[in-house]
Amino acid sequence: MKETASNDLFSTKVGAIAAAAGSAVGLGNIWRFPYVLGENGGAAFLIVYIISTILIAIPVLLTEFVIGRKTNLPVSGAYNSLAPGKWWNQIGIIGVLCAFIILSFYNVVAGWTMCYTVRSATGALQGLSEDAIQQAFVSLSENPWECLIWMVVTIVASAFIVSRGVKRGIEWSSRILMPLLLLLIIVVCVRSLTLDGALQGVKFLLSPDFSKITPQSIFEALGQSFFSLSIGMGTMTTYGAYISKKQNLTSCAFSVAFVDFVIAFLAALMIMPCAFACGINPGSGPGLVFVTLPNIFNAIMFGQAISFVFFLLLFIAALTSSVSLLEVIVAYFMNEHSFSRRKATVVSAILIGIFGTLCAFSKTLFGLFDNFSANVMLPLGALFIILFAPLILGRRAMRNELEAHGGKCKLFGFYYALVRYVVPIAIVIIFANCILSWMGVKMFA
Ligand code: TRP
Repeated sequence: MKETASNDLFSTKVGAIAAAAGSAVGLGNIWRFPYVLGENGGAAFLIVYIISTILIAIPVLLTEFVIGRKTNLPVSGAYNSLAPGKWWNQIGIIGVLCAFIILSFYNVVAGWTMCYTVRSATGALQGLSEDAIQQAFVSLSENPWECLIWMVVTIVASAFIVSRGVKRGIEWSSRILMPLLLLLIIVVCVRSLTLDGALQGVKFLLSPDFSKITPQSIFEALGQSFFSLSIGMGTMTTYGAYISKKQNLTSCAFSVAFVDFVIAFLAALMIMPCAFACGINPGSGPGLVFVTLPNIFNAIMFGQAISFVFFLLLFIAALTSSVSLLEVIVAYFMNEHSFSRRKATVVSAILIGIFGTLCAFSKTLFGLFDNFSANVMLPLGALFIILFAPLILGRRAMRNELEAHGGKCKLFGFYYALVRYVVPIAIVIIFANCILSWMGVKMFA
């Protein structure tokens, strides 16, 4: 029998959820969420983020699951099989390209976390002054050859997991690594919360200042929820294809979103009290993790061990996300070009290595890929997916798929209304705002 990507299903519901949650939980939760939250007023942003996750992101996630499982094909073939010969099949191709673009910079950042894990283990960051810590990050990010080495280590690790196949590879790594990740975050959280002055950080996270909610922060929250849940480019469509018909898709989607949120929230709870305790501005931007945390680790008891644990868990989280993106590309080569899993993995890893090298050597390209994928490709992809489902699949087929496990989908009417009207309109607004702000026009003053 021909080896296809989709004849290899997750064996249990826990396995399917663990794998999808492994995709969702990554640098987006632990590195991006706390700093975006810090820049947008803390608790108020948190509330907007929760609302946008429930009303926009979860419906898109569920729709991706529905399309993936309905066709039992990964993203590249799913749209084509439902609407053959129509332009909709471009969604799959856009998804594969988007996976390439995200992986190109994502593996570089994942490589940095691997580097910081090793630096923590060897004590290279211990006892450094604030300036020296800043310099340590600059010396890494400005040294493309070093970035390249760490990036290659990341690519080889994720290719190894993917080449072992869906069940043995992805599910295994998610089932072992995810609970470990959660455990490590809780340990670091407890230490962080017991620092002097930590309470201020907790207050920042939990007592909202509603005047901080602006149209811009609402858009940031929406974008963050897209990136964090891995939606808008077919990662979750591919995972949907691997979920068995016996499982309740709605509860899978809610569980994944819940796990993703809890880890993002715990990450903020781990970083904010530390930042406040050490007098670091929570809105200091994307450098927060790499430049700020080593200062804090130096100032606390068991700092070196905590630092090692923290960067290790960040690397683990990045790796499971990286694996999910790689799986999209590998599944494409397997289904569209009849490659074996091994050959598809090797070819994909080499191509990503080439794109990643360009990102390691060019900061401009790195920034461009980062912005283009999150701000342009994901909203566009999600818009197509959300229009595709009611128009091509139709209401009845969507309902049948959601009830295929034999139960009733009680919230179907509400879900369908969100998919048909609320989500597409919201996405168009996000997208329009992005383009206008690039052109220097502010949609909202
Ligand atoms: N969600 C992951 C994170 O939070 C990153 C990721 C994996 C992703 N697959 C994706 C983002 C697909 C967008 C689309 O780090």
